[in-house]
Amino acid sequence: MSSPAPFPPALLDSLRRAVRVVVLTGAGISAESGVPTFRQAQTGLWAQYDPQELATPAAFRRQPQLVWDWYAWRRELVAGVSPNPGHIALASMEAHVPAFTLITQNVDSLHQRAGSRHVIELHGNIARVKCSREERVVETWPATDERPPRCPDCGAFLRPDVVWFGEALPDAALDAASEAAQRADVFLTIGTSGLVQPAASLPLLAADNGAVTVEINIEDTPFSPWMNYTLRGPSGVILPALVASTWPG
Ligand code: APR
Repeated sequence: MSSPAPFPPALLDSLRRAVRVVVLTGAGISAESGVPTFRQAQTGLWAQYDPQELATPAAFRRQPQLVWDWYAWRRELVAGVSPNPGHIALASMEAHVPAFTLITQNVDSLHQRAGSRHVIELHGNIARVKCSREERVVETWPATDERPPRCPDCGAFLRPDVVWFGEALPDAALDAASEAAQRADVFLTIGTSGLVQPAASLPLLAADNGAVTVEINIEDTPFSPWMNYTLRGPSGVILPALVASTWPG
């Protein structure tokens, strides 16, 4: 793809003058790292499963080992990939902006591994494991062949520390994300289909409070008509070009 520059000068000016820049990312920003998006067909062994069927409390109650194994497969996949130029560009943007907030729906740690410092994880992180009864994060547990392993404290199954469909988001994360969206000078929505609430309400909350809104995606989404700018293309190409055009040298 040829460089997506030149960008609208007014967009670059808004970014340069912004004090508070807020970014919401979804699975699309990790696609170029080789991490399948949620609504892309699953590959290999997991092709026959619909992620939206597996990422639920009911699935875990019904088939705890299957769900545990699916997350173990995803954990291994994510450990084997690297942040892509899109993740790296956001870490660079953070260094140029006085007050930068990165809100992600992703659970893959790729933003942190790219160097982003202030990351709000709305849907948790598959690198963390928690007790399915006590809800507290568990760092270590006795070696066992049992899958899922059990909480060393109460004996309940351990589970990934992620938000499943139908579960509430962590209050602190959602409050911080909403607060940031309401105060944003510029709000960028990157690589998300905008189908899952309450994350999907954040870009509109920002727009309602006067933010300049930008969408980066390879295709139209429900957000597109409401955005001040829609930049069509892979985030791994657009973001580095946008950062280089906004803050050259
Ligand atoms: N660059 C930019 N956008 C991309 C790219 C790319 N290279 N590849 C795919 N996309 C876009 C797709 O067009 C789509 O709009 O990324 C979006 C991915 O959408 P989903 O797979 O629905 O992922 P996401 O929006 O993050 O899902 C939100 O729903 O499934 C739950 O909890 C899960 O966090 C997830 C949430």
